[in-house]
Amino acid sequence: MTLAQYKNAIEQSNIVSKTDINGIITFVNDEFCKIFEYSREELIGKNHNIVRHPDVPKEVFKNLWDTILAKKTYKSMVKNLSKYGKTLYVNTTVIPILDNKGFIEEFIAIRYDVTQSIELAKQMQEKDRFLFQQSRLAAMGEMIGNIAHQWRQPLNELGITVYEMKKLFLSNKKPDEFLQSYKHSKDVIKKMSNTIEDFRNFFSPNKQKELFLVKDAVEHLLTMMQGSIYKHALHVEVQDNKGIQLDGYFNEFNQVILNLINNSKDAFNQRKIENRKINITIDADNKNATILYSDNAKGIDENIIDKVFDPYFTTKHSSEGTGLGLYMSEMIIQKSMKGSIKVYNNKSGATFEIKIPLYKEKYNEQ
Ligand SMILES: Nc1ncnc2c1ncn2[C@@H]1O[C@H](COP(=O)(O)OP(=O)(O)O)[C@@H](O)[C@H]1O
Ligand SMILES: [Mg+2]
Repeated sequence: MTLAQYKNAIEQSNIVSKTDINGIITFVNDEFCKIFEYSREELIGKNHNIVRHPDVPKEVFKNLWDTILAKKTYKSMVKNLSKYGKTLYVNTTVIPILDNKGFIEEFIAIRYDVTQSIELAKQMQEKDRFLFQQSRLAAMGEMIGNIAHQWRQPLNELGITVYEMKKLFLSNKKPDEFLQSYKHSKDVIKKMSNTIEDFRNFFSPNKQKELFLVKDAVEHLLTMMQGSIYKHALHVEVQDNKGIQLDGYFNEFNQVILNLINNSKDAFNQRKIENRKINITIDADNKNATILYSDNAKGIDENIIDKVFDPYFTTKHSSEGTGLGLYMSEMIIQKSMKGSIKVYNNKSGATFEIKIPLYKEKYNEQ
């Protein structure tokens, strides 16, 4: 290939411009004019900052100039603006051309338009955010049913107590019993208020890591889920002989267990299983805590078992599943807790095996 052919090849496939040492445009190729929507006449002799986007902070340009004035090549993805206000994302390389004495003669900039792929990535992010929101809302909807369930009994109790208080007040004979009822009412109200607080906490992200007993976390979740557990006739057993503790985010951990229980519930319902069992066994060796979660909902088809952690993978109707539950669960276990989660079939259902490094281990490493 000759030099001219090279030049031609670059100019055909890229956006090329040249400026003098002060940044005044001396050359633009057709592609440059086309993309930035200027005619050649409008560009030659102008400062190259004509295509600057107002969003880009000054420091970026300072960095560019510092780099190229130091006779180094500058490479970056830059946000630019066309004449008629179109935002363009371009992979940019600016090369200082030196004369034979080693002084900067001019700058040549080669750009490659990546606007489409950036826009696409943004759209994907939007879609992701939307779906995450959707699955969060679905989980919240389920949780509202649970709150209602949790409130029914104390509300009844409160109704009865208030009625008794009325009787006691009218009889005007038993001030002690009246006060006792009053105190009891206050306790019940406190309990109801705690329930709301629990649910509120559940969906607000933990700010700080904390040491917690795995069994406590799971049992706390099961208390909150009493409504669903009752409604879907789930028998959940939790076993922990060692009192295993983890250092991490209590709420996030519980969201994983919630996802697993919700999936079991769906499988039980779909397959109309009669005797619905979920077993959660918590154990540890000297390195990892292991949480074995098993159900007897007939397991996961071997053809799809490798895909269940993939984002958007679901076998459910779109109104029932987003395919994000296990994906999010894996994220939480891997990213937040530095652990791992895998799945296999047991003889009557699915088993999820979660391994999380013990806090002592992490502590010793530091
Ligand atoms: N306990 C289970 N028993 C049977 N299948 C399951 C179980 N847990 C998950 N699955 C399968 O894995 C798929 C992905 O689960 P998930 O990521 O939570 O998404 P979704 O619940 O929205 O479908 C489910 O659609 C289902 O086919
Ligand atoms: Mg799910």
